[in-house]
Amino acid sequence: MSEANYVLALDQGTTSSRAILFDQQGLPVATGQQEFRQIYPQPGWVEHDPEEIWQSQWQSIQACLAQANVPIEQIKAIGITNQRETTVVWDRRTGKAIYNAIVWQCRRTADVCDRLRAQGFTSTFQEKTGLVLDAYFSGTKVGWILDHVPGARQDAEAGHLAFGTIDSWLIYKLTGGKKHVTDYSNASRTLLYNIHTLQWDADLLNILQVPQNMCPTVVDSSGIAGYTDTQWFGNEIPIAGIAGDQQAALFGQGCWTPGTAKNTYGTGSFLLMNTGEEPVPSHQGLVTTIAWGINGQVTYALEGSIFITGAVVQWLRDELQLIHDAKETEDIALSVPDTGGVYVVPAFVGLGAPYWDSYARGTIVGLTRGSNRAHIVRAALESIAYQSRDVLEAMMKDSGRQISMLRVDGGAIANRFLAQFQADLLNCTVERPQVTETTAMGAAFLAGLATGVWPGFEPLAQAWKRDALFYPSMAEDTRDHLYQQWQRAVERAKNWIE
Ligand code: G3P
Repeated sequence: MSEANYVLALDQGTTSSRAILFDQQGLPVATGQQEFRQIYPQPGWVEHDPEEIWQSQWQSIQACLAQANVPIEQIKAIGITNQRETTVVWDRRTGKAIYNAIVWQCRRTADVCDRLRAQGFTSTFQEKTGLVLDAYFSGTKVGWILDHVPGARQDAEAGHLAFGTIDSWLIYKLTGGKKHVTDYSNASRTLLYNIHTLQWDADLLNILQVPQNMCPTVVDSSGIAGYTDTQWFGNEIPIAGIAGDQQAALFGQGCWTPGTAKNTYGTGSFLLMNTGEEPVPSHQGLVTTIAWGINGQVTYALEGSIFITGAVVQWLRDELQLIHDAKETEDIALSVPDTGGVYVVPAFVGLGAPYWDSYARGTIVGLTRGSNRAHIVRAALESIAYQSRDVLEAMMKDSGRQISMLRVDGGAIANRFLAQFQADLLNCTVERPQVTETTAMGAAFLAGLATGVWPGFEPLAQAWKRDALFYPSMAEDTRDHLYQQWQRAVERAKNWIE
């Protein structure tokens, strides 16, 4: 009997680093997970310590391998997937970061984006990168580091500094400093990469004052990008899959053909639709992004990025202390027939797609003397579904396609109330897979495809198995009324802080 093959997926997320070992059936056989610090130097600012990110990732790998007890030689490839846009700048001479990683959620460069918009650059960025000129993306974060770390700009001009998203940083570490690369999907989130020419764009680099020599080499999402240094595993393991976490989830959900879509319910939610080999520009507040590149051929996606969805449940637990455990929310929500007209708009860090309002803040509207804890808990859960509808509506208009089936994943969608409400509100069937680790699975698939662990898409398609389908069953006038009220509630949250 031939020996079993495995693929190790590294999923470096916003709040924890995980390592998951997949067998050849595409099933997770062992997991390691390690949280790390969130650093909030000022309101609206979010940072991570790049060394802590690496250490937590390495510890998660060790925990996973200890649990799996598989000989290293049987691990045929590593796939990396990561929180996107989060920006690290390090010194090539020392291998050390020169500043903390500036996290995707960080709003510190909102004023830079305002200025660039006022100077008329909105369409330049949108046409070349497919993105909205927003503090969410990496470009203005790199500029901020160069402007605020003493000596950084001179060092950058002299070629001493490297910029990368978290995939680049991990690969730099894993290869012992030999590789400075990223993949198409991560590059497409930087505001510096032209998604049509597939090049770092000289005009954009110039506008954002980022020297091109800092940028990583862009490689395929599925292909050998480098080998791990022997200090880590003893032997060299190919790093053969790289993708931003939402694009990896799209891949792991089997959304390989144009028109297929998924929504991931994590801290935020990210609804992506595969649009094939043609980039579809958005006129509805979505972004056009690269889903993945294989053999130099890129596949594009439309994306609606919602900043706060699952995190609203954490807020109910940690800040309002209305619940002890996220799992309680399903029963609490079902204990009332509706929210009694209460709406929660969790614009805690502004609003992302399709509104892009950095100055919006969270609000609760529709309270009456009879509003109680259950109404608020239910309204918070419903806000996750409403925000997804905002994005889905935009996506159908932009793409000219009807979405009648949506694949879902992520922690929050284990909640059956939410899954059913989502189907009702979208008037669309919601399909949930058995293995909800679709982000890690996507990274493993990309790496395994490149190394022959899976010889093509057919075995991958077999690895995807359905857990449950949720069919829409809400009356149309109820759905319309609820959604109209939600839109009014959003108006109250917009443009709140000065
Ligand atoms: O764009 C941000 C996204 O990649 C973050 O994902 O799962 O780390 O919250 P997650």
